[in-house]
Parts: sequence; C-alpha cells; structure tokens
Amino acid sequence: MIPMTIQTRVQTPITQEHIDFYRENGFVQVDNMIAPDELAELREFLEEAMQNDGDRSVSTDKKGGLYYRVLNQKVSVWRDHAGMGRYTTHPRFAEAARLLTGASGIRLFHDHGLWKMPGDSKATPWHQDTPYWPVNEANPGMMSLWLTLDDVDERNGCMAFVPKSNQLGKLKGIDLTDPQNIFDYIEGGQADAQKPVVVPLKAGSCTFHDGLTFHYAHANSTDKPRRVLAIIFMPDGVTYSGDPHVITDGTGLEKGQPIAGPRFPLLARKG
Ligand code: SIN
Ligand code: NI
Repeated sequence: MIPMTIQTRVQTPITQEHIDFYRENGFVQVDNMIAPDELAELREFLEEAMQNDGDRSVSTDKKGGLYYRVLNQKVSVWRDHAGMGRYTTHPRFAEAARLLTGASGIRLFHDHGLWKMPGDSKATPWHQDTPYWPVNEANPGMMSLWLTLDDVDERNGCMAFVPKSNQLGKLKGIDLTDPQNIFDYIEGGQADAQKPVVVPLKAGSCTFHDGLTFHYAHANSTDKPRRVLAIIFMPDGVTYSGDPHVITDGTGLEKGQPIAGPRFPLLARKG
C-alpha cells in the first residue's frame, strides 16, 4: 500500500508517517523529493553556483584548507544564481517543512551548497546546528532540508542521526575542524540517545533534521564530489540574538527582532 500524502494547496511527498517520525525522532528521510528532470536541472545550477564567484554568496574555505577537507561549502547560493533561487525558495520544500514542524508559517533562513570533496576528505563530526545560529530561542524549531544530488552511502558522505537527541536541548557548538566529542556533553541516564541511524539515500531524495538533532556525515572515500543542497528553514517569529553571523550581518536587524524581511521570505503558510 502506498501511504497517502497530506493534501495541501502545494503538493509535497509528505505523509502522516513522515510527520509522526519527524516529531518523534527529530529527523526523517523523504524519498523522491524532486523528479528526475528537476534533479538534472538542479545539478547543472548547483555546479554553476559552486564554480562561479558571485558577490553575495560566501565560500567558507579555499581548497587545501582544514574546513574544506570537511566541507566545500558555499553559503547563500540562492542570492547569486537565479536558478538556485527557484529551488531554494520552492514552495514544495517550504510546505514540507511546515507540515513536518507544524509551524503556521515557514521562512527561509539560508541555503548552502555542501560538497564533500574526494581526496583528503574528513567526516563532518557529530554536532547540532542551532548553537551556530544567531537566534534567541533555545529551541527555535529551525530545521534543515538536506537534498542529495548523488546517491550517498557510508563511502561518500551519507548522513547519520541520533534519534530524539533534539530533546537534549541546546549544547555547546562543536569545532568542525578540531571536534569535541558531543557525546561527552550528555548527562548519565540518556544512553538511548547514543544509537545513531545511518541514512543512505538515492539522488533526489532528502532528509529533514531539527537544528538540535545530533548529526554526522561520513568522509568521502570515492573519486567524485558528493553534491548536496541544504536549505535552512525557520518558523515565522524566531528572533535575532544580535550575535554576528554571515547571514544576518548587514541586514539591519535589531537584537530581539523577529527575523523577517526580503532576505528571509515567508515561503509557506497555513491555509
Ligand atoms: C554534511 O553535509 O556533511 C553535513 C551537513 C550538516 O551538518 O547539516
Ligand atoms: Ni549540521
């Protein structure tokens, strides 16, 4: 039997099973998030965005750098590539985020091209995302869509998640190039939170994970890049902490204000 997708104005592949799993575990796998023709187009657009320097997107590190060995990352590709803009702001993705989180409105926070390069590749260490974001709320309900443009498994950088680890609250940020062991931060009695689930995926499929969920990605031991588009969504109303961050710097946001406006468009709303 094929599970019923949830019917809303915008079509998504999200079923009640996805919603229940996400809310229980803090992550979920969603197959076939995009169709084969979209996958072909998105590969072309993301290749262009990663290979061309624009004045609005930001590369985190250069080839040879420590961070680059973990991730060849370009932040805000949607701002420099109109085709990427179409995908990053696609109503299907934001509506899927709204259904999973149950938020009444979903805004874009930012996107990244996240490539794990062949060669001297390092794993992305276990971490939570929320500690890096300039938001006031300890549990802001922010989440990431991690959409792979290549088949991924443990050989080329698939992700792993610790179910329910989002319930442990916001811990210290991990240095991705010289990582602390996040499991050292877990107090006794929460041993269940230490059993990771590895999630291999087919190209065009994705995971969604809560910003507090522990996650990890394997090193890439193949001879091709692992190409991923990650999109960070937030419920409408999340407020700015005033801390410096590449996404909010220069936007004129004041400490305590809801993160909103043209750089953070409302992409999905209830009803
Ligand atoms: C990765 O793609 O290697 C990590 C993604 C993430 O931290 O969300
Ligand atoms: Ni992360």
